[in-house]
Amino acid sequence: MARTALVTGGTRGIGAAISKALKEQGYQVAATYAGNDEKAKAFTDETGIQTYKWNVGNYEESKAGLEKVESELGPIDIVVANAGITRDAPFHKMKPEQWNEVIETNLTGVFNTIHPIWPGMRERGFGRIVVISSINGQKGQFAQVNYAATKAGDLGIVKSLAQEGASKGITANAVCPGYIATEMVMAVPEKVRDAIVGQIPTGRLGEPEEIARCVSFLVSDDAAFINGSTISANGGQFFV
Ligand code: CAA
Repeated sequence: MARTALVTGGTRGIGAAISKALKEQGYQVAATYAGNDEKAKAFTDETGIQTYKWNVGNYEESKAGLEKVESELGPIDIVVANAGITRDAPFHKMKPEQWNEVIETNLTGVFNTIHPIWPGMRERGFGRIVVISSINGQKGQFAQVNYAATKAGDLGIVKSLAQEGASKGITANAVCPGYIATEMVMAVPEKVRDAIVGQIPTGRLGEPEEIARCVSFLVSDDAAFINGSTISANGGQFFV
């Protein structure tokens, strides 16, 4: 039977491209979303991928949602923690709510997505975890103290999980996308975005599919020896 893959925030942007790529690879895919029913329905109509709605920032909701996916599609062997938000503001203007919302979704959300299904992966002796971090977790970003903190935190999560899961056949890796042509990046003021593109040696934004291909590889059986790693896909904008 095909393995089941879960993609949080899997109906839009980079997440949608990952969901589609994993389906093409032959996995059964569950894509979660937080609020946009209309986009989620359109996504299912277009792709045939089942969607589930919950707030990744809430542990109990996540646990119940994950149980529902497992009861309908089977044990989750592959999890792509992709759901993320921005609440950009220069630090002197950043409100505690902007800090808390981003921490809750982007960082606690990763814990809430992986923790409930971790025991099952350990028991079955197989798991593939990919966390979608960001170039801005590697280099920091003006107006993103909150977001950069969560994306740097993602790297700590995968490096630690890699050590805990290795003896149980579980790998945990991160992908750090650079600036990708998604709604999130298009929301950046045009002038600022043009300046950012000017810093990318490749001379363009990335495509969501270019990130999805990294994930496809990391979740495959061929990637069993890649554990605790970070793949940067940023057009040469930043080297670690
Ligand atoms: N570096 C240095 N200075 C900068 C700057 C930068 N990157 N960006 C803005 N500034 C300066 C401005 O020139 C301005 O300076 P002055 O006051 O001297 O004129 C000041 O900082 C900004 O003041 P504003 O009052 O205009 O700031 P604001 O409260 O309106 O905030 C902003 C504007 C939120 C910073 C907006 O410019 C913005 O959205 N910037 C982009 C931030 C960004 O890159 N976010 C990434 C989103 S995509 C993503 O997160 C996906 C991913 O993983 C890559």
